Amino acid sequence: MEKIIVHGGQPLRGTLRVQGSKNASLPILAACVLSDGVCVIENCPDLSDVRAAVRILEHLGCTVSRAGNQLTVDSRRVSCYTIPDTLMHEMRSSIVFLGSVLARTGKAALCAPGGCEIGLRPIDLHLSALRALGAVIAEEHGTLRCEAPKKLQGTVISLSFPSVGATENVLLAAATATGTTMLLNAAREPEIEDLVRFLNACGADITTTGEGTLVIRGVSRLHGCRHRVIPDRIAALSFMAAVGAAGGDVVLEDVRTKHILSVNRVFEQAGCLIEADEHTLRIRADGRLRAVQDIRTLPHPGFPTDAQAAVMAMLCTAKGTSVIVETIFENRFHHVHALCRMGAHIRIEGRVAIIDGVEKLHGAAVSAVDLRAGAALIIASLGAQGTSIITGLHHIDRGYEKIEACLQTLGAQIERSAESGRQQSKQNQPVRRLPLR
Ligand code: UD1
Repeated sequence: MEKIIVHGGQPLRGTLRVQGSKNASLPILAACVLSDGVCVIENCPDLSDVRAAVRILEHLGCTVSRAGNQLTVDSRRVSCYTIPDTLMHEMRSSIVFLGSVLARTGKAALCAPGGCEIGLRPIDLHLSALRALGAVIAEEHGTLRCEAPKKLQGTVISLSFPSVGATENVLLAAATATGTTMLLNAAREPEIEDLVRFLNACGADITTTGEGTLVIRGVSRLHGCRHRVIPDRIAALSFMAAVGAAGGDVVLEDVRTKHILSVNRVFEQAGCLIEADEHTLRIRADGRLRAVQDIRTLPHPGFPTDAQAAVMAMLCTAKGTSVIVETIFENRFHHVHALCRMGAHIRIEGRVAIIDGVEKLHGAAVSAVDLRAGAALIIASLGAQGTSIITGLHHIDRGYEKIEACLQTLGAQIERSAESGRQQSKQNQPVRRLPLR
């Protein structure tokens, strides 16, 4: 079993270029199905979730090649409308293929998606929006069978919650529908903007009237395009939290500062110093941080739920009591147990986490149980005294491209090892310091 070994207590220093966005790449890859041409996608990170999306594209009949961080997708010969359960279960985002496959072939047959275990994650909003566009959807033995007998028809749809995935599915289904779709209370995440930019570059006609309204005028076909994926704001925030936890002085390149403003404020309240222009951000942290009392996860432009675990890991050693309210997912505190094993004092009351800052965390053997929880354990380990061993790396590899190599460039004492060790059978126990490489 692979593990990451971190010898904590080393401040981070240096410059790091942030990877392309996972959550923008995945719907863009699903959107390639709509194109009757060749799409070149730059800055597309090499992650296990992206590889899962590529396998779905290939199954549908696309030809996909990668050169560095550039993917080329030829979708001229898409014919298949089914996605096998094994591919659907590889990640939650597989559900966005529903809108694009249905729009391209007039049919789709697939099962419920996989992904992180962070609550129920239903798809009712996706399905009711697609039905409003004229899809006929039936469930047979766990498989969704969808058809658009008379081509999808534009209409007015209002989401009861600005779901990211449901917004993406509406964009994909409506881009080539007959007539105009107006989507109210749409998600406003930067990844949605990037999907709109991609679709418009392929010939779609999508505008926003602001405040979460999207107007999608259906066009008859989409062609290929060249598109550069936005930087990953959650990866950027994770590295910022690592600096907060371990101390140091780091410059992040290829950041969109406007995408992370709500979280920058939290870092500043905690005592980090941030200097940023449009595309570069410098963060400095020296000494013990201060607690932050009023963090509440919200849809964009609010504090992102995907940054909650990382920021909590950073605040475990802040002076005073921090409070984080998770409003987006009902079960997203899986990292708390492992952080407490490392010496954190955290209480959970429903959707509220109360973090009484301790002077120091200590190293432990801990296991990642979901993607962002895994990053949180690495962040906590970087600031902890002693050695930590982190397993469950397949979760972390879904969203972070070579996370240990990135942190090594900043001077962290971190390495990945495939060796099996006796510590693995003692999950969540303190461990002795291991020799460095
Ligand atoms: C996306 C992101 C994920 C992020 C989340 C919220 C990707 C690949 N994933 O996930 O990293 O944490 O946005 O910013 O982009 N809901 C329903 N019914 C639905 C759809 C959603 O009740 O049909 C609920 C969910 O259970 C959840 C909340 O709405 O509680 C947010 O979900 P949604 O915005 O759809 O998130 P995802 O698209 O799954």
